[in-house]
Amino acid sequence: MPTSRNTALERANALLETAAETDSGYLDLLGPANQAGPPTGITQRLMRTTLLPQVYERYWRPALGRAFKGPFGPSMAGEVELATKLLRPAPGHTVLDVACGTGRFTRAFGAAVGPDGLAIGLDGARAMLAKAVAERGPDTVAYLRADAVRLPLKSSTVDGLCCFAALHMFAEPETALDSFARVLKPGGRIVLLTTARSGRQPLRLIESTGGIVSGQRMFDRGEIAASLRARGFTEITERYAGVTQIVAGRLG
Ligand SMILES: C[S@@+](CC[C@H](N)C(=O)[O-])C[C@H]1O[C@@H](n2cnc3c(N)ncnc32)[C@H](O)[C@@H]1O
Repeated sequence: MPTSRNTALERANALLETAAETDSGYLDLLGPANQAGPPTGITQRLMRTTLLPQVYERYWRPALGRAFKGPFGPSMAGEVELATKLLRPAPGHTVLDVACGTGRFTRAFGAAVGPDGLAIGLDGARAMLAKAVAERGPDTVAYLRADAVRLPLKSSTVDGLCCFAALHMFAEPETALDSFARVLKPGGRIVLLTTARSGRQPLRLIESTGGIVSGQRMFDRGEIAASLRARGFTEITERYAGVTQIVAGRLG
């Protein structure tokens, strides 16, 4: 029965196109590179600092999340609950948490997939992953340092893929979506939380300017759903709160 953390790392490694070295408790495919992919701005840079991961889960993400989602958006616990509900992880499933940060969602998926399942948290920032590893969580969790835009997993290997609060930070979000579709098994489920700018001026202009300054792309309402549909996703649902959208679907 695969129960130890090392086993989870070995099982995650077996899903990669090229095997990775284990470093500091996680698999590392980026080696000496400071970040995954080209820099996209101040927000992405902040994620690589050593201080932010220490306050990220407790203060930073809840506060910033509330500012982005507005008063009626889900709480942090609500986000994890909703992502889990939309992904429908079952015992034995493999779930990939792309841009996992300190692993809040990864730990929940690790618990949901049971002892025979696997939850892989992927991120590019060493400090985020160090904090995620320190938080421990279920033995079914393994962390991987790699680029979220070009996922290093073999094709059709995961049953569920979550990417919260990160797609808008990537240099090539459309390439990332291609990659997400590639690693999902047919029938696999996806859930994304990203930005959604207003269709009306002057709000649209203000939100777009905020995006440019912070290095975060502002997607339009319906844009992510259309991108998923174009990649063969069905059963698409969209939820909007403030300047965020949560979009989910099933491949095929
Ligand atoms: C705002 S955090 C989101 C963390 C978590 N998903 C959540 O919702 O709390 C964004 C994460 O994306 C990671 N990230 C940004 N660009 C990345 C890339 N190209 N490859 C891997 N990780 C990336 C950052 O290191 C950071 O941990």
